[in-house]
Amino acid sequence: MSTKDNSFDSPAAAAIAAIERAAGDSSFVSLGGRRTRSVHEFYRYPARFSPVFARAVIEAFTKPGDVILDPFLGGGTTLVEARLSGRIGVGSDLSTLAVFVSHAKTRAYKAQSCEIVDDWAGHIAGLKLRGSPISVPHIGSPEARVLYTPETWRLRKFIGLALDSLQNLEDNDASTLARCSLLRTAQSALDMRAGTPTIDDFRRQLVATARAMANVASDHGRRVRHADAATVGKRGIPRSLILNHAAEDLPAAALSARYKVPRLVLTSPPYPGVYVMYHRWKVNGRKETGAPFWIANCLDGHGIGRYTMGARADKSRDRYFETLRSSWERISEVVDERTWVVQLVGFNHVPTQLPRYLQAMDQAGFREVQLPTLQNQDDGRFWRSVPSRRWWVITDARSECAPSTAREVVLVHKRA
Ligand SMILES: C[S@@+](CC[C@H](N)C(=O)[O-])C[C@H]1O[C@@H](n2cnc3c(N)ncnc32)[C@H](O)[C@@H]1O
Repeated sequence: MSTKDNSFDSPAAAAIAAIERAAGDSSFVSLGGRRTRSVHEFYRYPARFSPVFARAVIEAFTKPGDVILDPFLGGGTTLVEARLSGRIGVGSDLSTLAVFVSHAKTRAYKAQSCEIVDDWAGHIAGLKLRGSPISVPHIGSPEARVLYTPETWRLRKFIGLALDSLQNLEDNDASTLARCSLLRTAQSALDMRAGTPTIDDFRRQLVATARAMANVASDHGRRVRHADAATVGKRGIPRSLILNHAAEDLPAAALSARYKVPRLVLTSPPYPGVYVMYHRWKVNGRKETGAPFWIANCLDGHGIGRYTMGARADKSRDRYFETLRSSWERISEVVDERTWVVQLVGFNHVPTQLPRYLQAMDQAGFREVQLPTLQNQDDGRFWRSVPSRRWWVITDARSECAPSTAREVVLVHKRA
């Protein structure tokens, strides 16, 4: 059931107009692999939303010091923007890779840690393809499979040697940042590429990436400390809390005991019938590898169904909608009637899946709120077109795939 909302705490028209403008932003979704201007570029997390959009929603619906929750955290966009704007972010994802990447993006890096990474880059510049790395995945593991070929073994070995060298970094933040630079460089080299780079090219790119990330991290650390200082926070409460839980298992009681009630839930769950490779890279454009988990040091071994709320074979999507409902039921335990819930959602078949999505939210205790100012379609909602996104979709009727997945809707809810 949806309702028109003109309540006193609705965001101002200007704030909503900013969301609409930001929803059209594609600069961060389509960024090139080599640009490093902000922590958002530390890893290309699939199906991430634009930081400009996240910031506009945060500013429209919250004020400094408020708590913001993202229960399907992904690459941590919400938490980065929450912290930079003086809010307190709580995020959770069932993927250990998402947790690693979000940690790497949200740390308040000190200059000293960044210098250590810069020095480490100097060590990498002289790293030879010699000796046997300790940090190599077992040949039979999903992490390894396609890295044991005549084209890829050198790169596997070099990455293993670089991972070994991280053991000498005693500073935790430096180690996370250096590991993330390796993760990012390996993603650019392996994921959806036609060939494998030479070791010289890879080494050069890793050194440049690590140095650029160290620079950005140092600046980010200063901005975060500045934003933290401007907001009141309880002692001992982290400004960015990152949990590794499925949304349906969120530790609601523990969160409620420590944190204020979130004023905003800003998130983007997996989409029904849309199977995004959050957890694998495609080497030579085809063969899947779990190498990101190996490099991030958080092995998983799960299939795609774990990260997309259901197996591809489940054409009924029952498992998806059941998981969605139970997730939002659990989320409803940590919010109250004043909390705004803003989601960006896409479908592979809008006419059947949008009503089921809204029904699952309704069953979980959330009513849709249609803000008169946030709409661009006759259905009273705000729809945006999705810039080129590398997901692939299984659908029963192929012809329906393109138009549906090319659009996303901004859904706004409150607890009933
Ligand atoms: C669309 S992505 C989120 C992207 C994020 N907004 C960003 O900007 O990076 C969806 C995330 O939901 C996670 N996920 C899938 N099922 C989940 C569940 N039941 N509980 C928590 N997270 C889940 C996936 O691992 C994935 O990281």
